[in-house]
Amino acid sequence: MSSDNWVVTAHDREQISQAVDILNAGGTVAFPTETVYGLGADVTNTEAVSKIYRIKQRPIGHPLIVHIADIAYLHEWTKEIPEAAVKLAEQLWPGPLTLILKRNQRVPNVVTGGQDTVGIRVPSHPMALMLLQEMGPRKALAAPSANRFGRISPTTAAHVQKDLGTAVDMILDGGACTVGLESTIVSFVDEYPKILRPGGISLDELELVLGHSMNLPHVTNAPTIRVSGSLASHYAPTTPLELCDTKQLWQHAQDLADQQLKTMVITWSKHQQLFQKNPYLHQSSMPIDAETYGRRLYAILHEIDQADFDYILVEAVPDNSNWLAIKDRLQRASHRSPKI
Ligand code: TXA
Ligand code: MG
Repeated sequence: MSSDNWVVTAHDREQISQAVDILNAGGTVAFPTETVYGLGADVTNTEAVSKIYRIKQRPIGHPLIVHIADIAYLHEWTKEIPEAAVKLAEQLWPGPLTLILKRNQRVPNVVTGGQDTVGIRVPSHPMALMLLQEMGPRKALAAPSANRFGRISPTTAAHVQKDLGTAVDMILDGGACTVGLESTIVSFVDEYPKILRPGGISLDELELVLGHSMNLPHVTNAPTIRVSGSLASHYAPTTPLELCDTKQLWQHAQDLADQQLKTMVITWSKHQQLFQKNPYLHQSSMPIDAETYGRRLYAILHEIDQADFDYILVEAVPDNSNWLAIKDRLQRASHRSPKI
């Protein structure tokens, strides 16, 4: 069952109440959201939040997103909220949107990496909402994605289990995430709202609510220049991944096979079919619409990492705003890979 039709059962309620006890005692709990699974700790407990950094092996100074149960609690953690931010929150929460706002003194430095701003969102997964509600109105969960730093985000409880295992005190299972990509991050720190990370809420949705156009974040489909170790390497599978234009895809796949590299070719356009059997080449045909592609992407990359592939070749995705978040994640995933 996915979180779209997730119904919180009596068993889930029991699990949630156990999770609340763990969180109130300064522990960590991985929980489902509609985007990806989060690794949560009580925002107000500095020691508990520090555990998140240790478990994820995430450098201190990378700020965490604060999850709240309802827009009504926004002022508990932020101040000087611009009208446009309220508009977005009212229309798009609960949902995959994070707002960067001025923080107030209740948010500890460890959460924001010492910055005077805080990222905040209301997730829409019923289990996440119930967990937050049970914690109470003056509480919130600091939660990054529940994966080790630089790895692919988890979209199922099994992904969390595999990556973090016993390092986390409890994992709540809420099925497969329906969005499958992280939230869209919009900053209200400057005069105009700015997209810092494309994600589950599209540019069109934001513009519709705001009533004006926004600048696109810089995301390119083009094959990247790879400088080992010096570029952002978020969201990366352990198997090398390369993006390739549709036209060159099969020629490049053939070259990889000729080098005896077992390659998974991820395609989306229907005509891109593996026409001849080659033991080194495998194909994973992805959905043609961005929403379903996005939902499945991390799960597919997790699966490929589990199997013994030498290389992942990904057909470059369409060049329109619906694909922005996917393009961004693929781009980052390809950064750390040596080009063959
Ligand atoms: O969908 C999501 O956003 C998931 C779920 C669990 O809510 N969370 C997530 O968290 O993706 P994480 O930590 O993996 O990514 C959070 C991003 C980071 O890139 C961080 O730098 C940025 O949000 N961020 C958080 N607070 C910020 C702030 N005050 N200013 C600028 N960026 C911030
Ligand atoms: Mg993350």
